Amino acid sequence: MSRMKRTDRPYDLVLFGATGFVGTLTAEYLATHAPAELRWAIAGRDEERLRRLRDGLPGGAEPGVLRADVSDPASLRALAEHARVVATTVGPYVAYGEELVAACADAGSDYLDLTGEPEFVDLMYVRHDTRARETGARLVHACGFDSVPHDLGAYFTVRQLPEGVPLTVDGFVSADATFSGGTFASALGQFARGRQMVTAARERHRHEPRLVGRRATAPLGTPRFAPEVGAWALPLPTIDPQIVRRSAKALERYGPDFRYRHYAAVRRLPVAVGGTAAVGALFAAAQVPPARRWLSDRLKPGEGPSAAKRARSWFSVRFVGEGGGRRVCTEVSGGDPGYDETAKMFAEAALSLALDDLPETAGQVTTAVAMGDALTERLRAAGIRFRVAASR
Ligand SMILES: NC(=O)c1ccc[n+]([C@@H]2O[C@H](COP(=O)([O-])OP(=O)(O)OC[C@H]3O[C@@H](n4cnc5c(N)ncnc54)[C@H](OP(=O)(O)O)[C@@H]3O)[C@@H](O)[C@H]2O)c1
Repeated sequence: MSRMKRTDRPYDLVLFGATGFVGTLTAEYLATHAPAELRWAIAGRDEERLRRLRDGLPGGAEPGVLRADVSDPASLRALAEHARVVATTVGPYVAYGEELVAACADAGSDYLDLTGEPEFVDLMYVRHDTRARETGARLVHACGFDSVPHDLGAYFTVRQLPEGVPLTVDGFVSADATFSGGTFASALGQFARGRQMVTAARERHRHEPRLVGRRATAPLGTPRFAPEVGAWALPLPTIDPQIVRRSAKALERYGPDFRYRHYAAVRRLPVAVGGTAAVGALFAAAQVPPARRWLSDRLKPGEGPSAAKRARSWFSVRFVGEGGGRRVCTEVSGGDPGYDETAKMFAEAALSLALDDLPETAGQVTTAVAMGDALTERLRAAGIRFRVAASR
């Protein structure tokens, strides 16, 4: 199906999970930033709450209201068939996400989500990438703080370096922020599914075509003091380095031999040691079902940091790129990473898929591959900073 054919659908964009924590922030962002001609709708499982949300949206926005539930596959197919782009916040995605990906791949609708779950992304590649390529659907995962600043930041850094030569980029993440019940539930779920994650990664590896004549790697670094950013660097095995590597595999601009390493940057050694111990303890507790249940009861889905707390939060990702005799330091930075900025990145990515003139892509694609330049410009205009800090 061509993209042109999809213009006769009732909606350009449907936001599914609009009544959740990030969903509400995203609906509010769209209400104040989407162009007036955008035909959009909010969707979720409770029509009454959706109507209340719509009535309270700023700027008198009046999106359509659609009922859909992940336990009702027909309702998800209807969503996919009624929209050119479907953006979903309904997670944990490994538990709730697949039916909608399948529906979008079948209907030729563009799909985006906020997952940070590698297992989910790998399984969706194995099961739905081929169908999405046939219908022209773009399946873009990880369109929030996971992994937009890292993927677009690495892309921005690469573009400051010479073409056609081996390149290395190291990313150093620092942030001051807290998380919501939905994110906490997803993280705990992931910690408990290490074995399934490895199995899904292997299955993807068997299906994915090999890169011929070029290399793109994302090895786990080693903990070290990194003088280039004046902080302790701890390897961060999140989904982000996998996404950056996939962008490098897809885009020639990353050169013949690209390596990305991803770190948390922590100024004080005791904080680095304490943080590592805390993540280790959470990981251990997540393996024991009663401990996992106790932990997930501490922060309920739908709850999240207050507006005041979010206003004090910030993030910065510094990149050090080298190649062809040049070295460049860049930074992507902004406000509250998990929610305000995630809602902004998510909404702008959805608007970009719906409205921008983008490279022809289909199937499972990263943000850099599907909309690198257009989304970077959108985010800059929306207040997320991309800058070159130093180069030689
Ligand atoms: N990538 C990132 O950086 C990033 C940042 C933030 C969040 N996230 C992820 O985004 C997701 C959402 O986070 P959140 O904090 O917004 O969580 P949340 O407040 O718990 O929202 C989850 C949404 O899923 C909906 N939902 C649950 N079961 C459903 C069903 N059976 N049918 C239809 N909808 C259903 C909920 O609907 P109700 O409103 O009706 O309960 C709600 O709208 C999580 O997976 C989280 O990990 C990622």
